Formats: sequence, C-alpha cells, structure tokens
Amino acid sequence: MVLIRLATGNVPASFAALTSTCTHQGCTLSGYSGGKIVCGSSCGHGSQYNTDGTVAMGPATVALAKYTVAINGNTLTVT
Ligand code: FES
Repeated sequence: MVLIRLATGNVPASFAALTSTCTHQGCTLSGYSGGKIVCGSSCGHGSQYNTDGTVAMGPATVALAKYTVAINGNTLTVT
C-alpha cells in the first residue's frame, strides 16, 4: 500500500491510500517523484500516477485502486 500525506491536518482528506501494485503488469510501485507515484526501477516501464490514483503517464491505462482512510484521534486506519 502507498500512503501519502497530501496536506496538513489530521483529517481523511489529508491522505491518499492506494494499492502499491501497478495496473500495467503488476509490478510494485517504486517511488514518488515530482508529485507522481512512479513504477520504475523493478520493471522499467515508467508509468506514473497522480495522488488520486489516476494515470498520469502510461503505459498503464487503469487507475490505482484506492483505500478508505479514517482517523479517530491519533489513530489512522486504512481499509
Ligand atoms: S508494471 Fe508498472 S509500468 Fe509496467
């Protein structure tokens, strides 16, 4: 899973939780650069995703699955 803090504040909208499996050929996403989630080092295909999971650059054509973030006090839960 990829968990990114998008903004300050401990509210669910401040976080993005996405699958770490690339929708192109199933490789594990390798990093975060320039505001994009990158599938690079292990497969070398270079797809990039926006923090909402949509595809920013192919070859992937399908968005990443999103998880739900909940916050209760100081506890963040992803389901
Ligand atoms: S498996 Fe991610 S770009 Fe190919």
